[in-house]
Amino acid sequence: MGCRYYSTVLLLLSLSMPMIHCQGPVPTITLEHLDPTLPPAGLAGQVPKCSIIVLQQDFAETVGSPPASANYTHPRECPFPWTRVILELSLSASDLQRDRVAAVWIDGVEVLRTITPLPMAPGAFWTIRKDVSRYAALLRRLGDPSYTTARGHGAISMMLENSNSPGHLPGIYSANVSLHFYRGATMTTAAAASAHPNTRGLYHEPADVILPVSNPAGYRGSDGFWFRIQNETHVQTASIAIPMNAYRAVLEVFVSYHGVDELWYTNPLRTSYLHSSSTANLSSPRANGGFRQLYANIDGQFAGGHIPFPVIYPRSINPFFWSPVASIGAFDMPSYDLDITPFLGLLLDGRMHEIGLGVRDAQPYWLVSANLHVWVDLWSDAVRAGLMSYFVPPLKMNRNAEWRNQDGQSEIDAEGLWRFTGWVSSSRGNLTTSVRQKIKFKSQIEVQNRGAVTQVEVNNKERMMVEVARGHQTLGRAQMLMEAPLQVQTTSVSAAGGSVFRKSRLFHQLLESVALSEGQAMATSTLTDRQDAEGSSLMRGEEPVWGSGATRSSYKYRDDNTCYLRSVNTAGGVIMTDTTSPSCVAEA
Ligand SMILES: *[C@@H]1O[C@H](CO)[C@@H](O)[C@H](O)[C@H]1NC(C)=O
Ligand SMILES: *[C@@H]1O[C@H](CO)[C@@H](O)[C@H](O)[C@H]1NC(C)=O
Ligand SMILES: *[C@@H]1O[C@H](CO)[C@@H](O)[C@H](O)[C@H]1NC(C)=O
Ligand SMILES: *[C@@H]1O[C@H](CO)[C@@H](O)[C@H](O)[C@H]1NC(C)=O
Ligand SMILES: *[C@@H]1O[C@H](CO)[C@@H](O)[C@H](O)[C@H]1NC(C)=O
Repeated sequence: MGCRYYSTVLLLLSLSMPMIHCQGPVPTITLEHLDPTLPPAGLAGQVPKCSIIVLQQDFAETVGSPPASANYTHPRECPFPWTRVILELSLSASDLQRDRVAAVWIDGVEVLRTITPLPMAPGAFWTIRKDVSRYAALLRRLGDPSYTTARGHGAISMMLENSNSPGHLPGIYSANVSLHFYRGATMTTAAAASAHPNTRGLYHEPADVILPVSNPAGYRGSDGFWFRIQNETHVQTASIAIPMNAYRAVLEVFVSYHGVDELWYTNPLRTSYLHSSSTANLSSPRANGGFRQLYANIDGQFAGGHIPFPVIYPRSINPFFWSPVASIGAFDMPSYDLDITPFLGLLLDGRMHEIGLGVRDAQPYWLVSANLHVWVDLWSDAVRAGLMSYFVPPLKMNRNAEWRNQDGQSEIDAEGLWRFTGWVSSSRGNLTTSVRQKIKFKSQIEVQNRGAVTQVEVNNKERMMVEVARGHQTLGRAQMLMEAPLQVQTTSVSAAGGSVFRKSRLFHQLLESVALSEGQAMATSTLTDRQDAEGSSLMRGEEPVWGSGATRSSYKYRDDNTCYLRSVNTAGGVIMTDTTSPSCVAEA
């Protein structure tokens, strides 16, 4: 019998001990993984009108396979409209397995991207719930009995590339995807709606049409609906035609990073890269620093971008930090909104246009896809629009590196600012939309003791403003402030059999504040999501052998009506404390 669990007990380490030790009792670790944000019963007290399982699938050997898809049948007793729709993805792992990226699509539109936890023992399971009311246009179409496609009344797809072939771990992932339709009053707090409120809160009415900007190979291709970005010059494009009566458009971009860029945010900048010419060996992984920018183009022209929030994958840094809590954003990876309304003047001609997606400084490889949310003017057959100003100065980048053999330090500073303004003349009047964005990024990496001690400090600050005006009168304004500091310290020692013993410490935070104003009305919300972790691990190659980790997670959301607080402390694979406060008043 093999030893089918990762030991999470704190060991007084003897580096010569055998790697697999099967004696002794099976450690008690929590099999249920959780996202330490909103409570699991995010919709407590409310019973959905209908709940249906839309896809059930086991993912065993799926590398290179197209996504799993199921034809959709909408429950007759649950016609549109609904006040809320929740997507639930419940997953379990039969045995040990690596962490994997997965996603769910509705009719080819990505609605959830997630990173699985690292199952530490057979039977690990977890559930992700996401408010998908934002995709009401798709759901409404699925619920329309007269809607038919080549796949019947629409399809739900899921992809999770897994492998059990010899040399890989035996775990099989099993997934159930369900939709819950709610009617009647809903809890009004935004906190109840989304674990990580972002700009989606800026557009309270969901879009009328959602167009996928994704891989056309979709249902048949081995990348599914994802585009694979291979390098910094690689831009993947989709041709789309948008309705001629559109008056607002927002591009929502999903992203995850893999291969040599899985840990892009800890990537040092090597002197050799700094001084290398453009003819350098581009096919090999290079230490090009921890800066990446996700961006979109419209017909080849830059239309906005974001520095991705560094979601820490379970196997990175120390796998034992993430048992049984998920890192910030791992269950429901953040998507990034770009308001492209100012560009409607270029798009409203009824022709096909190229929407491109790329990642600055990318190394192989990134999986990206986007959804274009379009609001249409039902009282017009055609809306007119024009781009009034376009201001995109080059990013100010400062790169410094000083290395002597493995040791040294590097630093990247980046500052950027861009502004777009455009008018849209529809039945709502001739309105101008201004989008302003500012980023300030800093990455500092220091390596000492012949590569044994690494210190990483990254901070990204973004400020975004979208303003709608009629003439000189401001009608509405949305402002978002985001800050994402990350600090990682690791000390590594080589151990027997080519394995590495590593001690690490982590601090990671997501701060977001949103202010919305419309006429006299004003709404604000702030989110502080923080994790501190400390522990050690013994890794053989990329697989954990054993280790320990203690993680403190604290999530606080406040808006004008509510304040919600949750703190979860874990150690040695179990939950030590899990406290929530619906009023932010700390318990005595
Ligand atoms: C999926 O649902 C079935 C019941 O239909 C249940 O037996 C199974 O345990 C579920 N699997 C997961 C991973 O939740
Ligand atoms: C889905 O629907 C299409 C069209 O009705 C049909 O050809 C296909 O066989 C269906 N697939 C499944 C798995 O039922
Ligand atoms: C970037 O990747 C694309 C797609 O794989 C490839 O065609 C191109 O040659 C690559 N460019 C560089 C500079 O490596
Ligand atoms: C580029 O790097 C790869 C991988 O390290 C190596 O195999 C190849 O020989 C290199 N090519 C050149 C021209 O240096
Ligand atoms: C809308 O307003 C802009 C700027 O104020 C102007 O340039 C444009 O011509 C107007 N469009 C229409 C159709 O009136």
